[in-house]
Amino acid sequence: MRNLFVSRNANHTTDRRRRLGTLVARCGIVVFCMCVALIAVSAEETDDRIIIRFSHVVGEGTPKGMEATLFKQRVEEALPGRVKVEIYPQSQKFNDDEVVPALLFGDIEMAAPSLSKLTSYASSLRVFDLPMIFPDVDAVHRFQESAAGQGLLGNLRSIGITGLAYWDNGVRVISANRPLRVPEDAKGLQIRIENSQVFFEQYSQLGAIPQRLPFASLIDVIRNGYVDGQENAWSNIRSRGVQRFQKYFTELNHSFLGYMVITNAEFWDGLPADVRSVLQEILARTTADVNELAREQASASRREIMETEGVEILTPSGAELASWREALCSVAKRFATEIPNEVLAAARAAVREEGFEVAARAGEPKPSPAPSCSF
Ligand code: SIN
Repeated sequence: MRNLFVSRNANHTTDRRRRLGTLVARCGIVVFCMCVALIAVSAEETDDRIIIRFSHVVGEGTPKGMEATLFKQRVEEALPGRVKVEIYPQSQKFNDDEVVPALLFGDIEMAAPSLSKLTSYASSLRVFDLPMIFPDVDAVHRFQESAAGQGLLGNLRSIGITGLAYWDNGVRVISANRPLRVPEDAKGLQIRIENSQVFFEQYSQLGAIPQRLPFASLIDVIRNGYVDGQENAWSNIRSRGVQRFQKYFTELNHSFLGYMVITNAEFWDGLPADVRSVLQEILARTTADVNELAREQASASRREIMETEGVEILTPSGAELASWREALCSVAKRFATEIPNEVLAAARAAVREEGFEVAARAGEPKPSPAPSCSF
């Protein structure tokens, strides 16, 4: 009996100790959680850095990917503890069609969509898509630097977006699994294009079937045979490995793939003036480096593709080029009628090099520009 009493008592004491222990442990957890929450809140309160979320759709090794990284490095070096740039490549956050609404809703602060994808918001930007009007990238630069070209950076202001800079990728070539030597060869082919009305008309004019599809799906739609061909700049083609699935690349160089670095106007205008001016200065400096990098990447990517087994790069002869021009110039002319006169005049002057000092690059004779569509 006594033993039983003692053992009951002992059990009771052990129980109380256990409950006490549990209570202390619970209190400890609660206190720990409160401390963590407090630290987080105070870190949030003290971390008043400006965050710039920069979203894009291509890989980090492409010109735009490298350009965005360079921009981040320079900004964080110049404004330590004040500005942080977060890069979201390869449609990680938003794909082509989502990026402008995301910018407007404040889900990101910066992006650099291709100029073609912005034409649904500002039709004057179609000037960059008109087929075969700019004979080379230098002519595009002359146009971008003109008053009208700079003016286009402000064309999205009415929807709350500020254009900050133009960045290059390169000129477009067309690929397929049959050689596209003349326009008739494209007849009946399903071709993946960016979301641009000019490109849609361009391929319709050739008797092909254009498919507007996001960049993220490019390789899948080619691999699955959903499309027969595509057009793009060399570095995008290489970065997606299009050369593993397409045999023929026609070096038509018919249009320019470039970007506009854009930001939410309210965000940009609300930045402290000193931060804004540093960002502007860095963008200007980065743009110059970026364009050189894009040029190097275009030739390195072209070389790599050319060396890929089974791949053929077709360079159109003079007569073939003339047949493409004849097929596509009517599209350029048709859309040109919808573009403001001052924009067209500046583009024409840039093509004809009127009023420009055109210097040859060191060690290279200045190439004579390829004849382009008159518009
Ligand atoms: C890009 O370079 O941003 C994508 C171009 C494309 O959609 O083909």
